[in-house]
Amino acid sequence: MQELVEKVLINSQEIQKRINDLGKRISRDYKGKEVLLVCVLKGAFVFLADLIRAMDVPLKVDFIACSSYGSSTESSGVVRILKDLDYPVEGKHILLIEDIVDTGLTLNYILSLLKERRPKSLKVCAFLDKPERRVVPVKIDYLGFKIPNEFVVGYGLDYNGQFRNLPFIGVLKQEVYSQK
Ligand code: PRP
Repeated sequence: MQELVEKVLINSQEIQKRINDLGKRISRDYKGKEVLLVCVLKGAFVFLADLIRAMDVPLKVDFIACSSYGSSTESSGVVRILKDLDYPVEGKHILLIEDIVDTGLTLNYILSLLKERRPKSLKVCAFLDKPERRVVPVKIDYLGFKIPNEFVVGYGLDYNGQFRNLPFIGVLKQEVYSQK
């Protein structure tokens, strides 16, 4: 698989270092509170798994799935809930975990959905941010890395469902996209 990678944007050491820092910061900010981490499937599951192990506060996790991309590399702008949360969020400290914020449409939609359910607090932690692509403004409280407008895979992010298992963030060779 790695032979299909054109370049590595963020290597696994850089990822782990950044996540350790984020975990410490988040733990400081939530000291004395219990937090419910809401992971947006599927991409964010790898980030969530590493982040919770870098955190030192009582926490629970829940999962929500929605679709915005279909199977292409362009956002359709349509957000649909495929799987809702198992836990109620009312009165809880919610930290939303995203792998990437692109147009911001998905995050914007999920944030308004969760706000209606009256959490005690609602913050966002995103692994990657592609600010050049933003269509709606969204506030990211905790961010891993800002990246340029390139289609990236790895560390949970996919192309056509694959490449989520790469331990780094990379850009694929052009031939992968033309093979479709
Ligand atoms: C990605 C990502 C975000 C969303 C960001 O999910 O995980 O949820 O797109 O894009 P936006 O800011 O333009 O809305 P994707 O739909 O690729 O699903 P996946 O995580 O299951 O691969």
